[in-house]
Amino acid sequence: MAVIRSVIRGVGAYLPKRVMTNHDLARMVDTSDEWIKERTGIAERHIVADGEFTSDLGIAASRQALVRSGIDPIDIDLVICATATPDRTFPATAVRIQAGLGITKGAAFDVQAVCSGFVYALAIADNFLKTGQFKRAIVVGAEAFSRILDWEDRGTCVLFGDGAGAVVLEAQSQNGSREDRGILATRIRSDGRFEDLLYVDGGPGSTKTTGHLRMNGREVFRHAVQKISSVIEETLVMTGYAPDEIDLYVPHQANKRILDGIAKRLGIPEEKVVLTLAKHGNTSAASIPLALNQAFEDHRISEGKLLLMEAMGGGFTWGAALARW
Ligand code: ACO
Repeated sequence: MAVIRSVIRGVGAYLPKRVMTNHDLARMVDTSDEWIKERTGIAERHIVADGEFTSDLGIAASRQALVRSGIDPIDIDLVICATATPDRTFPATAVRIQAGLGITKGAAFDVQAVCSGFVYALAIADNFLKTGQFKRAIVVGAEAFSRILDWEDRGTCVLFGDGAGAVVLEAQSQNGSREDRGILATRIRSDGRFEDLLYVDGGPGSTKTTGHLRMNGREVFRHAVQKISSVIEETLVMTGYAPDEIDLYVPHQANKRILDGIAKRLGIPEEKVVLTLAKHGNTSAASIPLALNQAFEDHRISEGKLLLMEAMGGGFTWGAALARW
């Protein structure tokens, strides 16, 4: 039976010019290149310039995705930006991206699910496209995380970086089989009981300040391996795929040890996992589309490939998406 699927037509990314290495950080806080690499796998990250905003990163990434999709921006009717670091408290960063791309129809809004934001935004866009309410969407993950870090807290400031990635989705009629192109399944979850393990200690509705990121790293680590593994398993069961039938795992890039833990638990071979965090650290909602973009540019992604994306972030929120390119 024919069904509508959200087919990924293009991917793009953007990283700010300035690179901050582990050695640079070791001059700012009591840490070392060895410690950061061994505990996280991160070697460097990109940092926004003064006057460079989340929307600027999102616009640059979206432009590249649009060019690769061959779709004219005026034919886009939905823009969703996943971010925890909006330019302003309001309006939504997505509206600024929409304007920057010259799009004047449809709707644009932000999604706040921190590191899981891209999976959440993809799930929302997919559901809108499948119902026929919109035809073509840009889903952006964009973050200027450097602006909410406590640069004196070595337990957190070494982990994160800035960047953006975007995909262009188009509603297309497919056969309704698991061999279809497009998004085949999404799963999103949250559990607010864990808020205090990872949060920002400010906000317009509480302190009237932006605040800084606070985290219990060890506890986050433990939950990440368990929650991400279980949502991947759920997604596979839902679609009838076995872990070894997935061509490429495109995970949120938080920590190499978290990814190793998940791969070990599910029996995923290392060569099937896209790893980009050495080059840009944890870029929160931007990390999955940045990894997708890297895999696309390395020719690891081509038409017909089956991809599994997954993430966990503050909230906790977590989720997974299965898509055929
Ligand atoms: N440099 C040197 N030493 C450090 C640093 C640093 N940057 N940070 C912490 N340490 C020290 C600690 O003070 C501690 O010292 P102590 O033993 O004298 O008290 C020691 O290193 C060990 O600290 P732990 O916190 O136990 O180190 P751990 O091995 O757990 O690694 C880390 C810390 C990397 C934060 C890890 O817990 C982690 O990755 N957690 C997941 C966090 C994460 O990825 N968050 C991202 C958001 S959520 C997500 O995206 C999934």
